[in-house]
Amino acid sequence: MTTIRLVQGDITRESADAIVNAANSSLLGGGGVDGAIHRRGGPAILADCQKLRASHYGKGLPTGKAVATTAGDLDARWVIHTVGPRYSHEEDRSHLLASCYRESLRVADELGARTVAFPAVSAGIYGWPMDDAARIAVETVRETRTAVEEVRFVLFDETAYRAFAGRI
Ligand code: AR6
Repeated sequence: MTTIRLVQGDITRESADAIVNAANSSLLGGGGVDGAIHRRGGPAILADCQKLRASHYGKGLPTGKAVATTAGDLDARWVIHTVGPRYSHEEDRSHLLASCYRESLRVADELGARTVAFPAVSAGIYGWPMDDAARIAVETVRETRTAVEEVRFVLFDETAYRAFAGRI
């Protein structure tokens, strides 16, 4: 049974076995959570990302997939990078957002992580409406079979926190 907890704050300040990054397929950094994780985690994370690009993901990590690196200077053992879909008014991409949570938990299980902190993937720069992002996040975690004992959603602001709280 996985416990879901909500926290309002900066995910780079969390201590958990694994912290999930809302990355882009380049894995080479960006703004939002991604920028914050690379800034606070230091260059070891980017070095691992570059190795992954060279070894397995020459064309980048596909949307909906997840991959782990060191957490560098963060208070975690691993960062799990996942690539959320950009929100589209024309096309339903919910399955890709759900896949981010499922794949991140699968990677967490492979690593043996017991506590995993997630941001609201796709709900920032990628434009996903927060209420719907929260629904997909909570439903998917509840439906996924995993050995992860605690999933912590770390929400940056009160609007995000309330959206997730409304789904618990
Ligand atoms: N801790 C917790 N949540 C945060 C933090 C933080 N430090 N910083 C932002 N958020 P986003 P996306 C919230 O934009 O939508 C990057 O450039 C933010 O308020 O980080 O998946 C990547 O490289 C929002 O609610 O991720 C990609 O190109 C949520 O985290 C692109 O952005 C997600 O916002 C990914 O966009």
